[in-house]
Amino acid sequence: MMKIPVFNEKKKQKLEFAEKHFNDTYNIEAKKSAEKELAKRPFRYDIINFLVKQLNREVTYLEIGVRVPAHNFDKIEAAVKYSVDPGVEREHNPVDFAVTSDEFFRQLEAGEILTRDTKFDIIFIDGLHLANQVEKDIENALKHLSDDGFIVMHDCNPPTEFHARENFSYILSPVGGQWNGTTWKAFFKTRKRKDIFSCCVDTDWGVGILSKNINFGSSSEVSNDYFEYEILNANRKSSLNLVSFDDFCGFFKK
Ligand SMILES: C[S@@+](CC[C@H](N)C(=O)[O-])C[C@H]1O[C@@H](n2cnc3c(N)ncnc32)[C@H](O)[C@@H]1O
Repeated sequence: MMKIPVFNEKKKQKLEFAEKHFNDTYNIEAKKSAEKELAKRPFRYDIINFLVKQLNREVTYLEIGVRVPAHNFDKIEAAVKYSVDPGVEREHNPVDFAVTSDEFFRQLEAGEILTRDTKFDIIFIDGLHLANQVEKDIENALKHLSDDGFIVMHDCNPPTEFHARENFSYILSPVGGQWNGTTWKAFFKTRKRKDIFSCCVDTDWGVGILSKNINFGSSSEVSNDYFEYEILNANRKSSLNLVSFDDFCGFFKK
C-alpha cells in the first residue's frame, strides 16, 4: 500500500482517525480482497502474448497508456509495436506517440501518422480509467482492429468499491493508492452488445478481452442500468463473463 505523507498535525490526526476505522470488518475484508487479487496469476502480458501466439503471424500491437514500458509494453512479443501515452503520470515518457488516445486516433484518421488504413491485431486499452474515456477508446479501437484481432482491457474487475472509485487522487481508504477506476462500466456496457464477444480473465485486476469472431459466450443479461457497484459485486461472474485463464485458453481449442 502507498505511504501517505504526513504534512502537518491536523493531517496526522485525520490519518490516525482513519486508520482506527479501517480496522472494522468491512475495511479488513476490503484489504483482504485486494491482497487476494495481487496474488493472482498470470499477468496481463502473459495473456497478450498468448493471443499473439494464437494469431500465428506478424502481429501489430498498440498499447494505449504505457507509463513504464518495462512493466508491460517491452514484454509483448509482437513483430510491430506502437505506444501511446500523453505522460500525465511521469515526466519520462518514452513512447512512439506522446499524446492522448483521442488525439492519436484523430491524427491516425487524418492521415497525419502511420497510414489511414492502419489495422492493429491487438490493442491494449490501459489509458485513462474513466468509463467515458474507456468507451471512446473501445469505439476507436474497434475501427482500427483487424477482423480477427483482439482488444484487451486492463482493470475490468475491481475487487472492492474503493478500487472502483472515480477519483484517482483519493487515497484515504483501506486500499490506499490502488485504482481500477470505472473501466468496468465501459466493459460491462460492451458486454451488452450482441455483435462483439467478450469475457474477462480473472487475474491481474480483470483482463477484459473483446473479439469480433471468437465466441466467448453470450452477452450479459444482468440488469444494472445505473452501473451500481453492489449489483456488479453480486453478479460479478455473469456481468463480466469472468473466466479462469485455463477456461480462456479453452476457447481457442474448439
Ligand atoms: C495504468 S498506466 C498504464 C500501465 C501499463 N499499460 C502497464 O500495463 O503497466 C495508465 C497510463 O495512461 C496514461 N493516460 C492517461 N490519460 C490518457 C489518455 N487520455 N490517453 C492515453 N493514455 C492516457 C497515463 O499517463 C498512464 O501512464
